[in-house]
Amino acid sequence: MKGKGRPWSLGKKVGLPVVFLSCSVFFLAGFFGAMLLSQDISSFRPNSRTLESVDDEEYESMPHGYTGESSIDSIPFQVLSWAPRALYFPDFATANKCQRIIEMARANLKPSSLAYRKGENAENTKGIRTSSGTFISASEDETGTLDIIEQKIAKVTMIPWTHGEAFNILRYEVGQKYNSHYDVFNPAEYGPQKSQRIASFLLYLSDVEEGGETMFPFENGLNMDGGYDYKKCIGLKVKPRRGDGLLFYSVFPNGTIDQTSLHGSCPVIKGEKWVATKWIRDQEQDD
Ligand SMILES: *[C@@H]1O[C@H](CO)[C@@H](O)[C@H](O)[C@H]1NC(C)=O
Repeated sequence: MKGKGRPWSLGKKVGLPVVFLSCSVFFLAGFFGAMLLSQDISSFRPNSRTLESVDDEEYESMPHGYTGESSIDSIPFQVLSWAPRALYFPDFATANKCQRIIEMARANLKPSSLAYRKGENAENTKGIRTSSGTFISASEDETGTLDIIEQKIAKVTMIPWTHGEAFNILRYEVGQKYNSHYDVFNPAEYGPQKSQRIASFLLYLSDVEEGGETMFPFENGLNMDGGYDYKKCIGLKVKPRRGDGLLFYSVFPNGTIDQTSLHGSCPVIKGEKWVATKWIRDQEQDD
């Protein structure tokens, strides 16, 4: 008896209505099951790793003003410090965009220059800043890459793009560095300023195998007793990662200089460091 029957055959005893009914049940189960599943998948979308905005269905956007935006943005960031005020933005730009910027800059690299204080010149400031770089404005970039990044920087700082200088694209090779300095020009040292750098946004265009960190030696008021050697790589260190952004403010909300915003670039030990810097001023830029 065993083994004789065909277990999966419906056999004679099962009538047509039963077949129809079970088919319908399976069809409906499959139909609704697929619907549920597809909903599930769409709500488990991975975080956006691109520059484009994510319209997060979790929030309902508000009616917006003429210069506003219709969608809700999700831009991840980490507060690195309140002294200085420093924010870190993972995956601010895609690897592709970073590479495009490097290629744009490579052909025009020149030794980076310094703004001189009284009594300073090329000779006696040699070795302070050893990178190569070039300035490129977003309008010069026909691919639109720099424009997208500029708009995004404006968004996260809420300072209009018109306050930004052209991008300074820098390359640091092994041994190259930038001694600790301020981006803001102290009038006591540099003379009166028509406009002032108030914030800096660094977009790391490459990973660096070893070294090349952005350092804040005075973070949280440390090492400020006067004995700090400006060449020394100490304090809060930010390791460059391709596509990530670092924003810090050089002045307090009341406009006075935040002494803890002193920063530098540790020497590259292994690999190469590429970074795009955007200095943001308190006045609109004319160029
Ligand atoms: C400006 O703000 C800083 C930080 O809050 C404060 O320490 C400083 O005394 C202020 N300076 C003036 C002139 O208001």
